[in-house]
This record gives sequence, structure tokens and C-alpha cells, in this order.
Amino acid sequence: MSENSHNVIYLDNAATSWPKPAIVGEAMSHFLAQEAANPGRAGHRMAIAAEKMLDSVRKTLTEFIGGTDLHRLVFAMNGTDALNIAFKGFLRQGDHVITTMLEHNSISRPLQAMADSSFIKLTRIDFSPQTGVIDPADVAQAITPQTRLIAMTHASNVLGTIQPISEVGKLARERGVRFLVDGAQTIGVLPIHVMDDCIDLLAFPGHKSLLGPTGTGGLYVNTSINMDEFRAFREGGTGGDSGSPTQPRLMPYFLEAGTPNTVGICGLGASTQYVAAHDPAKTLQHERTLVQKFIDAAAEIKPLVIYGPVGSNAAAHRVGTISFNLNSYSPQELGAILDDSFEIAVRPGLHCAPYTHKTLGTFPDGAVRVSPGHFSTSEQIDQLLAALHEVG
Ligand SMILES: Cc1ncc(COP(=O)(O)O)c(C=O)c1O
Repeated sequence: MSENSHNVIYLDNAATSWPKPAIVGEAMSHFLAQEAANPGRAGHRMAIAAEKMLDSVRKTLTEFIGGTDLHRLVFAMNGTDALNIAFKGFLRQGDHVITTMLEHNSISRPLQAMADSSFIKLTRIDFSPQTGVIDPADVAQAITPQTRLIAMTHASNVLGTIQPISEVGKLARERGVRFLVDGAQTIGVLPIHVMDDCIDLLAFPGHKSLLGPTGTGGLYVNTSINMDEFRAFREGGTGGDSGSPTQPRLMPYFLEAGTPNTVGICGLGASTQYVAAHDPAKTLQHERTLVQKFIDAAAEIKPLVIYGPVGSNAAAHRVGTISFNLNSYSPQELGAILDDSFEIAVRPGLHCAPYTHKTLGTFPDGAVRVSPGHFSTSEQIDQLLAALHEVG
């Protein structure tokens, strides 16, 4: 079971999941006490044991996403880091990139910076505010002979709405364009299969629905990508081939310079096994039930406006995330009241997704986001609803 040491009603799992399964902390403290040497393929026994642990977590994660080569699973500090390794390693001067208005700043900002310096050309596809989903036909229309990458999220971190990545993946493959998916809001609850979904690059954090510790994430570079097309975003020590004057091209070390977060990765291995054993489909169903309960009951709170799909089956189009505003309160005010007076942790503001809020008409104040997770309960949603009734 989880370790929940105080009574806070934590509904901010889209930012990071909390609590974590107890097994995560146990695995980390065991590793720290017994094996936490600096990993190295050519080192002493403890170093080799640490390296073995990394490879075993690589294998677990590679299998979890339907990958075929564990050496192409690169550990990163978080989702943002994985996206930077991908963009700065893969994109070349003159490339055209297609992305969407649903992206988190971890996609929007690096791409915008590259566009501002005329390194790449960038097109942003809009989404329907009613459905919260992009139309693959708009992506198809935006492809030019210079398009080298389509980069998009699997689910909106504001609306929770699930995007048609299989359709876009097939389209990209047919048109000879590479496809990057940001799995931040879906990995651990929705199936992601890098082979079936034609995903060339998958970036993900370990600390959201994979239930791992902060400081963890990964990038899977599919076998469809020739590593000669890549540059190392980060260069330095790799624990082997030390005589090479430049970054050795051997994967995964090519994209993994410096001492890795071994303690965190050990926790991520334990959490991924926990997630797999508890059936992600069941967790998703649990989260959707809580979101649907919120949607149904919120219809009774008149000044409350929910963004994206509403109605009796609306949660089926979402992961466990929903955003709303309550008339006469700014999102920041309402977030502070819920926190101070009710011990309910939600996320007010722009959620690092300013373009999404522009399309929704909620820029610059944003909205209040509620995101139940694996350990959230129906009673906690009741308490949130009671609080909203009281202040609404
Ligand atoms: C859709 C999406 N992409 C990327 C990220 C960035 O992940 P991280 O915070 O691990 O860098 C987030 C985090 O909230 C996200 O929601």
C-alpha cells in the first residue's frame, strides 16, 4: 500500500503522482544501502551490479512500451529532458516541424526557440475546444517536402483529452516524416506501443502515472531511426571507451553522458513493475470513474464551467484530468481557497500550456485542473464537490 503521511486530498497527479507505492521507496533505500556505486561496465563488482540494475530497468521499460531494443532506451531527468535530447539531437537546419496547440512548454519552448533563430520552420495545428482533440487531416495538410518531424502529446495535460496518435503515426510513416510522441500524461495508464503506433521517438517522465520518483524519465529512439542522424545533446563521461576523444556512438551511452540517477531509476524500475502488475487499464478505468463523477455532479454547480468534452460519457475521451473555472473566482484564488481551507491540492493557472488556454479562451489566467490518480478515492471527489458547493 501507499504511504500517505497526512490528510491532504491530493488531486494534482498530472503534475506528479503522489503518493508513490511503498515498494518504490523500499527499492531505493535497499539500492542506496547495498549497491549504489557509480555504474560502469569495466568497473568493480558494485559498479557492475549498478550497471546491471540500469539494464534491467531499461528492459522493463522497453517491454512496457513495445520496444525491441533496450539499448535504445535512454534515461533522462524528466519528460522535458527527454524532449530536449530528442529535439536537439535529431533536428537539422532547415527542417520543418509540425506540432499542436495542445503542447506543454517542454515541446513548445524548445521548438519555438529553434524557430525564432530560423533553425527550423514550425507549424502549430489547432484543436477543437469542444472535443479537445486535433484532426489528423490538419496534420496531413500541413506536411511539406521539408517536414521532418511531427511532435505531439498523447493526451492534453489541461483537458486530459486523448489524441489520435495511431492515425498520425501511420500518416507520418506513409509520408516519410518522423513521429515524436510525448507520453507524459499517458504512460502507465494508456497503452503505448512504439512499433504498432509508428512512433520513432517516445519521450516520457517516470514520475507521473509510472509512479516513479521525480528526477526520472526516458527517451526511446526507435530502430526506425538511424543513429547517424543523431547528435549527442550532452557530451561527457560514459563509463566506457574513455580513450575516445569524442562521445562514443554506442547506444544508450551515446545519449547518456554523466553519472545517472541510479537511485531514482531503481525506484522507477520498482514502480513500473508495480504499475504493470496492477493493470494500467484498471487504473485508467478508476481515474475515469472519478472524473465522470466530477463531471456529473459539477453540472449541479451552476457557475462552474468545464473545458473540453462534457456529458454522460465524457470521461471516456480523457485520461484522469479535467479543468474548470468557477465564476467570480480567479483560478489562483480558488486553488488557494481549496488548499488553505479544505486541504485539497489542485493546480490553478496555465499548466505550462499557454497555447491550449489561448484556444480555450482562458488565457492568461488559465483554469483549475483536477487530476485524480491511482490512489485517489471516490470520497475525495465527494469532498472536492462539497467544497465547491460551499464556495460556489
Ligand atoms: C504533456 C506534458 N509533457 C511534458 C511534461 C514535462 O514533464 P516533466 O515535468 O517530467 O519535465 C509534462 C509535465 O507536466 C506534461 O504534462
